[in-house]
Amino acid sequence: MFKALHHSICWRAAIPSTLLHSKSFLLGSQMGLSTTSSHMSKLLFRQLFEKESSTYTYLLADVSHPDKPALLIDPVDRTVDRDLSLVKDLGLKLIYAINTHVHADHITGTGLIKTKAPAVKSIISKASNSKADILVQSGDKIYFGDLFLEVRATPGHTVGCVTYVTGEGPEQPQPRMAFTGDAVLIRGCGRTDFQGGSSETLYKSVHSQIFTLPKDALIYPAHDYRGFTVSTVGEEMLYNPRLTKDEETFKNIMANLNLAYPKMIDIAVPANMVCGFQDPTPNKAC
Ligand SMILES: [Fe+2]
Repeated sequence: MFKALHHSICWRAAIPSTLLHSKSFLLGSQMGLSTTSSHMSKLLFRQLFEKESSTYTYLLADVSHPDKPALLIDPVDRTVDRDLSLVKDLGLKLIYAINTHVHADHITGTGLIKTKAPAVKSIISKASNSKADILVQSGDKIYFGDLFLEVRATPGHTVGCVTYVTGEGPEQPQPRMAFTGDAVLIRGCGRTDFQGGSSETLYKSVHSQIFTLPKDALIYPAHDYRGFTVSTVGEEMLYNPRLTKDEETFKNIMANLNLAYPKMIDIAVPANMVCGFQDPTPNKAC
């Protein structure tokens, strides 16, 4: 079963309301778990890599909450066991397995995660026309403990691409973090010639939804092929060789990439529309 998530609805992990905003839960850095900076003491963050598809999977958790609720962005089927083992080692409670879009280069791990941890809910955009427990759209908020991700629609690489951005507010991580999928890659962007892609749409998405974030906002892409791990909005606005150009030049660049047919697309896309399952029977687990 899956259900639409309306624009105004916020998804929040089960937290007693009396515990929210309590100073006694701002103790993440004392838990012996690494965090990225003192401003992010509530957030545990890990960037994980799947080498065959050069995919990044991101683990985020609110370690100031007693349950330590966690989510995974763009898990890959081949590395599900690694990811779940890390979640267990860190004492986290995985609540969401999320995709930025229907991937064409690898099979998502969301369905496999749900077979191993049935309480986990899968999330993808409503615009992707895929199955998931929760379908999100622009403006939705995905809560994990006291932290949240904001959903921004960034179509263009695919019709259903979204960027997940950490929340804005005094207790949210600073600088903000944008999980851009393939909309913005470090010094690049996703191709626009398949899956309802459009270079014009991608250009507008990036300039209106990502380049309007603060310049120090961190960009965490779904892939990197050269060893980069993170960039910033300001850096990509200056140095991205495609997205710094005017729209017409960008469209010309994208129309002349002469890329090979994606070798996994015919297997990965149909599977990823149903949480990564290639056999139709277990699709109920989506
Ligand atoms: Fe992609």
